[in-house]
Amino acid sequence: MSTRSSPDLSLIICTLNEGAAIASVVNEICDTLTGIDYEIVVVDDDSSDNTQAEVLRVAEENPRVRLQVRVGERGLSSAAIKGWEVAHGRILGIMDGDGQHDPQAIRQLADIILKGDKDLVCVSRYLGKSDTGLSFGRDIASRLATKATHLVLKAPLSDPMSGCFMMTRDWYETARPNLTGVGFKILVDLVASTKVKPRFAEVKAALRQRQGGESKLDLRVILDLGALLVEKGTGGLLPARFVLFAAVGMSGVVVSALILTFFKLIGYSTVTEFGHAQIVAIGLAMVWNFFLNNSLTFRDHRLKGIGPILKGLIIFCLVCTPGAILNWWIGILLKSAQVEFILAGVIPAFLIGILNYWASRVLAWNQKKGS
Ligand code: GDD
Ligand code: MN
Repeated sequence: MSTRSSPDLSLIICTLNEGAAIASVVNEICDTLTGIDYEIVVVDDDSSDNTQAEVLRVAEENPRVRLQVRVGERGLSSAAIKGWEVAHGRILGIMDGDGQHDPQAIRQLADIILKGDKDLVCVSRYLGKSDTGLSFGRDIASRLATKATHLVLKAPLSDPMSGCFMMTRDWYETARPNLTGVGFKILVDLVASTKVKPRFAEVKAALRQRQGGESKLDLRVILDLGALLVEKGTGGLLPARFVLFAAVGMSGVVVSALILTFFKLIGYSTVTEFGHAQIVAIGLAMVWNFFLNNSLTFRDHRLKGIGPILKGLIIFCLVCTPGAILNWWIGILLKSAQVEFILAGVIPAFLIGILNYWASRVLAWNQKKGS
């Protein structure tokens, strides 16, 4: 670990299984930054490949480079925040660890922001008309996400999805208390989390090819962005994690509706029969919700291995049991009042779902406030 303090620039590189690329990415960026007083902090989420060994090897020869490891946590945005937390520079930056970001562009970012009259400088793929370096499908998806983001941000960034930018610590600190830290899109999170409009500049650069490994961007990243935008768009009224949890809850309601439909089709119709069908529907929906929440809503704290999963499932079900009983009972009341078989199950399930969010996030996934 470096003993130097307060460099001008702290550049964070977040990694998850980037062993194939990380050493050459760090070396290349160090070459490009000559003449600047910088440090590089690699924040690794306990990669299962040789990423950490590679970083330590580079750090041994270069005291400007250090490694920060997080265990049991995931997510590009929260890893970036962790990096900035342990950084010493008055300028804070971020880039990917797979070689996709162009070092020349990063040098340009550094030169601009070190002049001192900007708060935020970003690499943009969408300045002018030239090639973005993305495949056709991803290019369209990225442009659509950019449009959706503009509706919420009201900031004229041409590429709010960019994962490569630098900012002053002063501006960062105006956003820090309100950051969501969910998902991949930390730039959106930052700009939406402060009332201080940054003086900003952009540098055009296309993405390069990955130097190895594989992309971690998937459907869940897109759901995360949607949830983040809802949180920021509603001024925090609907937290991102609640939006994800609610989406999972909805799918649970659909699961229980399907199960009730099955029982209705095989001839269940009396109140007693409805009560039995509801037990199965509620039970299975609960298990469904647990697994979906574990891989979506709380995936940055995801439970892994039979032991922790079983324990989490049992706690989740215990937490949900009062709600489930209430659900069952209201269902019976509705059914007795001649409400249609499936509706009588779906209506209470919907209401109880909202209640369950608050209880389970605290107990099963150990979520502290603001994390
Ligand atoms: N610590 C940590 N934890 N790092 C992560 C995690 C995580 O959970 N998930 C991804 N990373 C790291 C990867 O190892 C890589 O260095 C970087 O974050 C970007 O991940 P990729 O999987 O390569 O994402 P991408 O190339 O599809 O998208 C990136 O580039 C886009 C264009 O700049 C991201 O930075 C996007 O936000 C960005 O829009
Ligand atoms: Mn990448």
